[in-house]
Amino acid sequence: TETTVSPKILTPDTNAIGKAVWALASGELVAFPTETVYGLGADARNGRAIASIYETKGRPSFNPLIAHVTGIDAAREAGGMFDERAVKLAKAFWPGPLTLVVPCTADCAVHELARAGLDTLALRAPAHPVAQKLLDEFGAPVVAPSANKSGHVSPTRAEHVASDLTEGVSIILDGGPTEVGVESTVVACLPGEPVRLLRPGGVTREEIERVTGEVLGEASEAVQSPGMLAQHYAPRAAVRLNATEIAGGEAWLGFGEIAPLGGRGIAHLNLSPTGDLAEAAANLFAYLRELDALAPTAIAVAAVPDTGLGEAINDRLRRAATR
Ligand code: TXA
Ligand code: MG
Repeated sequence: TETTVSPKILTPDTNAIGKAVWALASGELVAFPTETVYGLGADARNGRAIASIYETKGRPSFNPLIAHVTGIDAAREAGGMFDERAVKLAKAFWPGPLTLVVPCTADCAVHELARAGLDTLALRAPAHPVAQKLLDEFGAPVVAPSANKSGHVSPTRAEHVASDLTEGVSIILDGGPTEVGVESTVVACLPGEPVRLLRPGGVTREEIERVTGEVLGEASEAVQSPGMLAQHYAPRAAVRLNATEIAGGEAWLGFGEIAPLGGRGIAHLNLSPTGDLAEAAANLFAYLRELDALAPTAIAVAAVPDTGLGEAINDRLRRAATR
């Protein structure tokens, strides 16, 4: 039988990255920072390691994983087939918070368990220097979902990973708070289909359309992200959206300068007092966790504009509010 050891939280110096590479190569799980959220990484070729990601997260096995690579060459080597549109998008946004879903070759390096049996592959080249160093030294794709229990709020700090995943993880590389704060945008570039937005995220709809020169298609019955469950990112407390007032036992999550009517509730946090969407995205998950820990009767959230990064923020808030 295996003994349960809590993960080691390491400062990501050369020595720690060496240990993390060794752990990945041995089929163990390593949590690492990306510019969006922390990922729970495994060797993309190792079915057993991938199975332990699903087990550790309590993730349904129909929900495929993103393979992280160093760039477009490595993405092709992994089995991703890039058409002109995918090349254009990768050139514009990699390394960065964009995931491309493309067809994959029959001899795809990414194990089919990580692809949930699909004939497509999700690929991303992260911009975080620790993620890049890990991928570079490991020399093969690393599949990584967000490093949280399935359905919970995604981790933007090493401590979030440690508090959520107490077993099954060998090493957590602590790169401090993540910069973007919401997950990557997922788009599909599939033959005979428009480029479709499967999940809003760190790259905005407007930025993508500027590069493709086309209006983004929406997810469809045939082309979708199996992981986009209505309820996700769920704090324990109820979440009330577009709030303008606050009741006695509630916590307030504000945006911009407008204060809530009706009193102070039990706590106040503001995603961005100046109304900056990038700052709001970076604070979102940590603030939800912080307010949730106070066990309010509900978290009342101010309206956030739906443009730019606001689309991803509102997407996560709606899922957090779904019971
Ligand atoms: O920013 C991010 O994307 C973070 C960091 C760690 O890279 N990762 C992340 O992974 O958010 P995860 O597993 O929490 O979300 C991946 C999403 C899921 O909605 C999944 O269904 C979708 O990508 N996905 C993966 N492979 C797919 C495929 N072949 N077709 C459609 N959707 C896919
Ligand atoms: Mg996730």
